[in-house]
Amino acid sequence: TWSAVPAGPPDPILGISEAFKADKDPRRINLGVGAYRDENGKPYVLNAVKKAEEKITAAKLDKEYLPITGLAGFTNNAAKLAYGANSVPRNQNAIAVTQSISGTGALRIGGAFLARHYPHSKTIYVPSPTWGNHIPLFKDSGLEVKFYRYFDKKTVGLDFEGLKEDLKNAPEGAIVLLHACAHNPTGVDPTQSQWKDISDIVAEKKLFPFFDMAYQGFASGSTDYDAFAVRYFVSQGHQIALSQSFAKNMGLYGERVGAFSLTTADEEERKRVDSQLKIIVRPMYSNPPLHGAHIANTILSDPELYKEWEGEVKGMADRIINMRERLYQLLSKEFQTPGEWSHVKSQIGMFSFTGLNTEQCKALAEKAHIYMTMDGRISMAGLNGSNIEYFAQSVDAAVRG
Ligand code: LMR
Repeated sequence: TWSAVPAGPPDPILGISEAFKADKDPRRINLGVGAYRDENGKPYVLNAVKKAEEKITAAKLDKEYLPITGLAGFTNNAAKLAYGANSVPRNQNAIAVTQSISGTGALRIGGAFLARHYPHSKTIYVPSPTWGNHIPLFKDSGLEVKFYRYFDKKTVGLDFEGLKEDLKNAPEGAIVLLHACAHNPTGVDPTQSQWKDISDIVAEKKLFPFFDMAYQGFASGSTDYDAFAVRYFVSQGHQIALSQSFAKNMGLYGERVGAFSLTTADEEERKRVDSQLKIIVRPMYSNPPLHGAHIANTILSDPELYKEWEGEVKGMADRIINMRERLYQLLSKEFQTPGEWSHVKSQIGMFSFTGLNTEQCKALAEKAHIYMTMDGRISMAGLNGSNIEYFAQSVDAAVRG
């Protein structure tokens, strides 16, 4: 029956973890998938999460189905975290929000909703480059995917002129995907003043902004600071779509906790949008899982746990910033590796877009047992005091060929 089914390629990001697991060399390092590791290279379960789980166990909750759009306390708190306590549409009950299977699920619900109900366009402009999964995800949702310029290889920074030109040339009403903070894979974000210019172009061209916020808190260490773009756009009167993930900032990767939201004109419109979100979710997976939403909700609604969580997010962000500094020192000072490496320090979030080419990435895997995506992206969180020298030395060897 399946004789004509062709073998597909491994996933460009998750496939790396499989290759890493198959490598038994003690020096192996996985810098592929963006998942936080502590100073000992181990997955890290946040103390705030452990304490929330103790509270949940003690409460002896049942295992009944959640409503189609998820745990109401969680979705409320997720919207508060993203939009801010004083957000106007929040206070007007005008944000439609549904729990989702983490960020990917949120993007997928959003893609499906826009494909079905957005009246002005079926085209979404995504940055070049963007998270690899954005492209098949939006195509599978029924949208056409096009690109706007984002990254400038020469400066290893933002191609702001190219970005502005491409958004200005996009057809009126098109959808535009914006990474709210900690752009994946480049680690390059617009400044606040650049965000203001982007907001003006979006208004002028009547584009529809869809924010992907997978790293709130992870970029700067502050959840408020990282929400700047989202809150600024809303304050300027834009209606937005937003995908949120709690995989990275709460370390809830496998629990699949996220939220998708849309700001609407008023409560009546919000109710109609809500009803259509349910119609999208119900035939896909009926209703979302319970446990992770309880964890996130417990943390977001308990002031003490919230404080502890904020400290832990900052701790994770700071460890990554320290690794950036150390890697920069090793490459530019100690090994004097050919090339300019200051971008390692200036990029933010979980990733560094190193500038290594495919051949160099392959050489690192084959010769040094170091795994990363073939676009030269490394997950900074995979580096620690014990492996960073070996990594820098191996990069040095790969660059020198
Ligand atoms: C990544 O980019 O590594 C993460 O967002 C994990 C994933 O699902 O790809």
